[in-house]
Amino acid sequence: MQLTLSIIKPDAVRKNVIGQIYQRFEQSGLRIVAAKMLHLSQAQAEAFYGVHKERPFFNDLVKFMISGPVMIQVLAGTDAIKKHRDIMGATNPKDAAPGTIRADFANSIDENAVHGSDSEETARQEIEFFFKPTDILLRD
Ligand code: CMP
Repeated sequence: MQLTLSIIKPDAVRKNVIGQIYQRFEQSGLRIVAAKMLHLSQAQAEAFYGVHKERPFFNDLVKFMISGPVMIQVLAGTDAIKKHRDIMGATNPKDAAPGTIRADFANSIDENAVHGSDSEETARQEIEFFFKPTDILLRD
């Protein structure tokens, strides 16, 4: 059993496809064990993506992530981090395999519909960023 953090980004929330993306999670065997909708502040977005602050795309990324509400969830399951990244598809939707979330719902590398933790350590940090341990409701 592993936990990972998922964010449905402002572009996908605007397209009204939260439910379709949740269906992909559930069909792949992942469970949603915590969830909240937030409109991130600039400070929250900058802190969450702090690892990218020297990258040329950082300012645009922050601006996009605060352009509307996001849906944030903790997903649980066997090998959840990899499973989630597999169903998300490549960061750039142009490279994403057919049938993946980004191939089906993303417009560009900047507006790429979803975010997912990329390692166990990142997953721990990212989950902690948004949720208290008591927010996570594990079950059979
Ligand atoms: P995400 O998985 O949320 O992590 C950082 C985000 O930065 C990434 O998805 C992309 O949406 C965005 N981004 C924009 N340009 C790039 C790039 N050249 N390489 C990686 N990520 C990028």
